[in-house]
Amino acid sequence: MDVTHNIQDTRRILKNLSPETQIGLVPTMGALHEGHAALIRQSVADNDYTAISIFVNPLQFGEHEDLDQYPKTLNADVKMADDLSVDLVFNPNAREILGERMLAFVDIDELQDNLCGASRPGHFRGVCTIVSKLFHIIQPHQAYFGEKDIQQLIIIQRMVQDLNFPVRIVPCPLVREPDGLAKSSRNRYLSPDERKQALVLSRAIGKVVQLYRSGERSAAVLVQEAENRIKTAPDAVIDYVQFVNGSMQDVEYVRDDTILALAVFVGETRLIDNHIMHRKFSCDT
Ligand code: PAJ
Repeated sequence: MDVTHNIQDTRRILKNLSPETQIGLVPTMGALHEGHAALIRQSVADNDYTAISIFVNPLQFGEHEDLDQYPKTLNADVKMADDLSVDLVFNPNAREILGERMLAFVDIDELQDNLCGASRPGHFRGVCTIVSKLFHIIQPHQAYFGEKDIQQLIIIQRMVQDLNFPVRIVPCPLVREPDGLAKSSRNRYLSPDERKQALVLSRAIGKVVQLYRSGERSAAVLVQEAENRIKTAPDAVIDYVQFVNGSMQDVEYVRDDTILALAVFVGETRLIDNHIMHRKFSCDT
């Protein structure tokens, strides 16, 4: 496995691959966990060569967000990548990727107006810009994104379509802890008590799924039930609980293809979770 820190070395290594080599890319911000591992395994299964990037992207963090605290576990990440048969870890620093000052960016209309895009202005412009750069540097045939960040996945799919990037986006299912908490690098911020309280997100989803199965279709009613469940945790503050369609627009009535999306602060930590209603949802509620 190669580990590179600059664009030139990375391009040199990739240039030496035979032209028919299928390349998979898994973009990450590191602090790797089983959610990332699932994406990497999928890429290794689908491709001849798997690259992962580890880069905590300043462009996608707001001024008062956790850029400086974001967990960094590079040695463990490199070991995990090696154990998963990754071929290349691209781990540039901010200067290498952003230069002194960037003037060109990639932006997306409409899809970023709701949910995390509304709560975190500029976030998806930062994501689209960095992912575009990674696609240009690595030139993967396939790139892997998790449904954990469902709005990000839908935005990247649209960006690739509208801007004719020659890459296939492969969605991967959301991975949970055995007790239901969606795996996230940010779970490391939670104190033991907050970790327990964080279960209200998946439990709220469980409650909604149960009501939906018994015939409830009103988004307002289901949101209320979810919010009531979340408010049982003393340190939980709701950012949003919404039902949206595939265009990230709010819906009044919930259908099988509707997405329930939530963002909740537990203490200082902002957690997100979601569920596509027709999917199986199994966790202890
Ligand atoms: P990061 O949060 O590190 O996530 C990297 C990839 O792993 C994303 O595609 C994300 O959806 C996926 N992922 C994280 N937790 C997951 C889980 N529990 N189940 C399934 N997939 C999961 O998302 C980013 O980084 C950044 O925005 C990035 C795309 C790298 C651009 O900077």
